[in-house]
Amino acid sequence: MAKKTVQDIDLKGKKVLVRVDFNVPLKDGVITDDTRIKAALPTIKYVLDQGGKAILFSHLGRVKTEEDKAGKSLAPVADRLGELLGKEVTFVPETRGEALETAINNLEDGGVVVFENTRFEDVDGKKESKNDADLGKYWASLGDVFVNDAFGTAHRAHASNVGIASTGIPTVAGFLMEKEIKFIGEAVEEPKRPMVAILGGAKVSDKIGVIENLIPKADKILIGGGMTYTFYRAKGIEIGKSLVEADKVDLAKELIEKAGDKLVLPVDSVTAAEFSNEVPTEVHEGAVPADQMGLDIGPKTVELFANILKDAKTVVWNGPMGVFEMSNFAKGTIGVCEAIANLTDATTIIGGGDSAAAAEQLGFADKFTHISTGGGASLELLEGKELPGLAAINDK
Ligand code: 3PG
Repeated sequence: MAKKTVQDIDLKGKKVLVRVDFNVPLKDGVITDDTRIKAALPTIKYVLDQGGKAILFSHLGRVKTEEDKAGKSLAPVADRLGELLGKEVTFVPETRGEALETAINNLEDGGVVVFENTRFEDVDGKKESKNDADLGKYWASLGDVFVNDAFGTAHRAHASNVGIASTGIPTVAGFLMEKEIKFIGEAVEEPKRPMVAILGGAKVSDKIGVIENLIPKADKILIGGGMTYTFYRAKGIEIGKSLVEADKVDLAKELIEKAGDKLVLPVDSVTAAEFSNEVPTEVHEGAVPADQMGLDIGPKTVELFANILKDAKTVVWNGPMGVFEMSNFAKGTIGVCEAIANLTDATTIIGGGDSAAAAEQLGFADKFTHISTGGGASLELLEGKELPGLAAINDK
């Protein structure tokens, strides 16, 4: 990687600010998925093993008002981190001030402090999310060096990542940031070929940038999910009651023309009369009848996609093939997971978000080379955009 990493600096006895992405799902104060905490462990352990004092911080959810703070404290995350590290983690329920400064000054080498949700600073004028320069300076003043390991937040230019780095404090990437950039970056920029991208999800508008960026780079782009029907409409195929973005039909036409035979659309759909798991399903090739809506790719499409995937050496997948949360419409996504799981000599990557959730929920998570921890960030990388959080890290 062209950026400095945590291995390029001396950490012994240093106060090491570590921006992590601990934006984990919580239900009634209980963490329902700790993947992101586990993903940050290599960097945290390295800092501690090197004799650094780790000062960890993250956002959690979106906070606009005082009321929004309820249920968004990082306290449960600090507890879980303590369990995973098997050591004491001091949680400071503040984002600034004496209690935080004292806790940091009392840290021994190898000690850990987690401070409160950085977005609690958004209640008072969006200081964190608007990258308030004073806030960035204040947080930078708490440490000697800055390690940014929050890949999931790298597409944001906030005070807790870009703001701190902009003060000139030595800024390096953590292991997770390095790993994410390596896998996603290489898959897009220097893929082993054939490179197959699988793009799904409800809306074509979310994937336009990715499709445009991947047309010259991928060998095949397989389309699934709700956005299929905007492409169908563009081709003049009847879509019944399926989801369509009417204002994106012309754009879909352009993408079809630009991509030529690289773009592969589903040949059949699993449909139902309602968006429900409780009504009978039908399978239709091409056109969807007037009283039906397409909710998953059909069996012939699964076969078609599996056939294309079997020769792939690089696979990048973003977006489920159907409404996988409902068992009647999960077969397409399962079929794609199975086809990828069968590849023995390919680099296979899931770009976070819904497809990561699908692979995990359907039991295929360990079959992929890399599952990104950043939905929005990986999408922007796939779009070929510069991530501000990454750009702010010191070059090697
Ligand atoms: C994410 O979950 O994608 C990241 O943590 C960023 O969160 P945000 O979309 O609220 O900025």
